Amino acid sequence: MGSEPQFVDAPSARDVQPLLSVRDLVTEFKTGDGVVHAVDGVSYEVYPGETLGVVGESGSGKSVTVMSILGLIPQPPGRIANGEIILDGQDLLQLSSRELRQVRGKDVAMIFQDPMTSLNPVLSVGDQLAEAILVHEDVSEDVARKRVVELLELVGVPNADQRFDQYPHEYSGGMRQRAMIAMAMANRPKLLIADEPTTALDVTIQAQVLEVLQAAKEETNAGVILITHDLGVVAEMADRVVVMYGGRVVETGTVDEIFHSPKHPYTLGLLSSLPRPDQDLERLVPIPGQPPSLINLPSGCAFHPRCHLGRGRSRCRTEEPALYDLGPMRGSRCHFHEEMAREVAEVEKATGARIEGSEA
Ligand SMILES: Nc1ncnc2c1ncn2[C@@H]1O[C@H](COP(=O)(O)OP(=O)(O)O)[C@@H](O)[C@H]1O
Ligand SMILES: [Mg+2]
Repeated sequence: MGSEPQFVDAPSARDVQPLLSVRDLVTEFKTGDGVVHAVDGVSYEVYPGETLGVVGESGSGKSVTVMSILGLIPQPPGRIANGEIILDGQDLLQLSSRELRQVRGKDVAMIFQDPMTSLNPVLSVGDQLAEAILVHEDVSEDVARKRVVELLELVGVPNADQRFDQYPHEYSGGMRQRAMIAMAMANRPKLLIADEPTTALDVTIQAQVLEVLQAAKEETNAGVILITHDLGVVAEMADRVVVMYGGRVVETGTVDEIFHSPKHPYTLGLLSSLPRPDQDLERLVPIPGQPPSLINLPSGCAFHPRCHLGRGRSRCRTEEPALYDLGPMRGSRCHFHEEMAREVAEVEKATGARIEGSEA
């Protein structure tokens, strides 16, 4: 909960200040069945120019965390019960809704899974992008139009000048997502939040959209939070990774650390269930059991009922693990994280697969 010790990264590890610092965030929802503890003491940082991958099964609190950052939690039934969300020295949780609207779209932009939820069907794509610029900047419509055409070109929309006047339904799914990226980049945000941005797209289109996202990021040096359940996407795109389980951060590390030497059994479970082109499907090891109820989390370590490493040890059932500090920006919420190297070796032996998601 709010008072438990949190993993704090060593300031000496980086000279740069974090762009975004989420500290001890608690977001809950009141429902007929009880209080849903959707986000329970989450902390993470995003540095300028880096991509932070956030992974975890469905319902682990990934989206609610970023909706809290954006001030988009419906209250009620939602409530942010604790925490700080510091963007560039300013606590977003202390802002009025008017001030927050100013931050959204300008300093922080968001790309959702389904662009149709963010695009207005009765306005041309170009007009919507121009509007996004004009809301935050005092420029003429001609200048805005020119900037929009450049943005559409940047994200690879062909014939951008003609495409300006077309409506969202005249764009394919991939083109709409490119337009969304263009819209998100329109005001050169410092922070870009992409929540499952390619989940709804075909694999080939996915790769193109991710490339565009990468290019847009490099162009603006924005920090990116990339939420995905696809570890392949994380391997490709992210610098650092946060693994979430049951509304909490259970592991943090660089992409290499997470993929090559996971320190939490849940992370290992995610890696072992990652489909790989060179691997037989039957060799995949799904994580047994179901994600936990966020109304009534299991006692001790929330992962213990599904955990192979725990092997029913009483400490796992009774004592809630803190996020153990394993080095600069490296943490694991497992009492037995020191046994993970052996665990990884065992899984590799059992499946004949190397635990690694990327050769990079
Ligand atoms: N408006 C809401 N009312 C009640 N529960 C909610 C609401 N929004 C999200 N939740 C719950 O919060 C939990 C975390 O959801 P979410 O962050 O969307 O998960 P994910 O990791 O899949 O993005 C889920 O159990 C979800 O049902
Ligand atoms: Mg989600």
